[in-house]
Amino acid sequence: MEVSISPVTAADVEAIATLARLVWQDTYPGIISQEQIDYMLAQRYQPPLLREELTSPHIWWDQLTVDGQLAGFVSCLLTATAGEMKLDKLYVDPRRQRLGIGARLVDQVVARALAAGCQTLILAVNKGNERAIAAYRKQGFAIRESVCVDIGCGFVMDDFIMVRPLSAGAAGS
Ligand SMILES: CC(C)(COP(=O)(O)OP(=O)(O)OC[C@H]1O[C@@H](n2cnc3c(N)ncnc32)[C@H](O)[C@@H]1OP(=O)(O)O)[C@@H](O)C(=O)NCCC(=O)NCCS
Repeated sequence: MEVSISPVTAADVEAIATLARLVWQDTYPGIISQEQIDYMLAQRYQPPLLREELTSPHIWWDQLTVDGQLAGFVSCLLTATAGEMKLDKLYVDPRRQRLGIGARLVDQVVARALAAGCQTLILAVNKGNERAIAAYRKQGFAIRESVCVDIGCGFVMDDFIMVRPLSAGAAGS
């Protein structure tokens, strides 16, 4: 089994968007409505938007393949707070979850954060997403606060903000 992590390229965005829908449909029914799933996927995974993000110097997208097949992806970005990186998206193919792929992708973000001189990694996760909260706790994140953000069209993101302090040598820990 050959596992490889590489930056997402413009040629990959359709496959990323397809995997995003697959994972969202496996994860969010029962947590948010189908209308909100469709709304958020349309907001976040339009190929032109993804291609634009790939050109930003403050946003990083990485993908993990197993034997050449896309199995997961992660994105992270610098926030307005100095020294802080946000793990913005982390999605693993449901058929390949609980095999350590999520952990590998978090390690990749930790490496990117350290390379960018960051001391803190943050993320937002839906309060009902117990699977992800458990995975993030295992990765050293702790809940800092509860937020409810209006994302338009009558939808809200009812999230926990989770934080992981970083230190040199944190990658892979
Ligand atoms: C969250 C996610 C990225 C984790 O990826 P993964 O490849 O399964 O994670 P890993 O295999 O590295 O680690 C899994 C660990 O998380 C925890 N975990 C994962 N799923 C769990 C579940 N259903 N119940 C309890 N703990 C769970 C466990 O601690 C597990 O370790 P273990 O398998 O040794 O017990 C993956 O579940 C996913 O893609 N979920 C859907 C999308 C999502 O919710 N993304 C986060 C949005 S904020």
